[in-house]
Amino acid sequence: MATAAAIRFFELNTGAKIPSFGFGTWQSAPGVVADAVTTAVKAGYRHIDCAPAYGNEKEIGDALKKLFAESVVKREDLWITSKLWCTNHAPEDVPKALNQTLQDLQLDYLDLYLVHWPVSMKKDSVGFKPENLSQPNLPSTWKAMEGLYDSGKARAIGVSNFSSKKLGDLLEVACVPPAVNQVECHPSWQQQKFHAFCKSKGVHLTGYSPLGSPGTGSIKSDVLKNPIIIMVAEKVGKTPAQVALRWGFQMGHSVIPKSTNEARIKENLDVFDWSIPEDLFVKFTEIQQAREAN
Ligand code: A2P
Repeated sequence: MATAAAIRFFELNTGAKIPSFGFGTWQSAPGVVADAVTTAVKAGYRHIDCAPAYGNEKEIGDALKKLFAESVVKREDLWITSKLWCTNHAPEDVPKALNQTLQDLQLDYLDLYLVHWPVSMKKDSVGFKPENLSQPNLPSTWKAMEGLYDSGKARAIGVSNFSSKKLGDLLEVACVPPAVNQVECHPSWQQQKFHAFCKSKGVHLTGYSPLGSPGTGSIKSDVLKNPIIIMVAEKVGKTPAQVALRWGFQMGHSVIPKSTNEARIKENLDVFDWSIPEDLFVKFTEIQQAREAN
């Protein structure tokens, strides 16, 4: 467990340093995402997590262009992640998909490009419906991802939503091992064994839905109402969201909370200059887990 107060970066197996704290853009509508990204970068966020599947990369690209033009931040000071959607797993489609994302985001390269799911879908199909699924061939998709890494257009490559079995299978055939596995991870789904497995293979874990995606009505959305989190928040004088995010760093994974609300965007960033003391940190192991580990 890392307890040092400032955990600004984690080092990937490429040697690159991924900012431990990122800005999630899933479920940020096109009409509000540009303002949210602009607010976040101005507040100090340096890592933006994107995906074409979120339907808002063009607006994020416009916001980034403006931030660069106004010298708010330089491209090289930002970490931008995006993801390969499931309809583009055919090796010939992989570079085209990255090019589209780069065009939408108005960038020359990504810091990290992830295979969004270990599930393949028929070209141009929409939605995870059984009739849209096609036979995945992850080794050939990964070979094409390695080509993007070699080209420099994706400075690191990785996966998302891969179980330990899927990740283990990929590692057996990969020439360039995935640098990151981005999975759902928060105090109500801690996945400690799975995290240890990723770590043992040199694969960094990024936790999405680090607040449990409150408002979605699922069991995981109880994170911010969990009595242990509330108790810890009261003791350290922080909000439940800050405590949930800080727990993630101290567990050794990066977090990418989403918000489109200026006050919450700023609130979430206040996680660096304090830490959860050991006697309270151990209490997280008592939180009831929503699901089995991956
Ligand atoms: P909003 O965008 O209105 O702030 P996750 O990142 O776990 O998926 O959670 C995202 C959800 O959590 C969004 O609904 C977001 O709403 C809400 N949220 C973000 N920050 C906070 C916070 N500090 N306190 C409470 N809810 C938050």
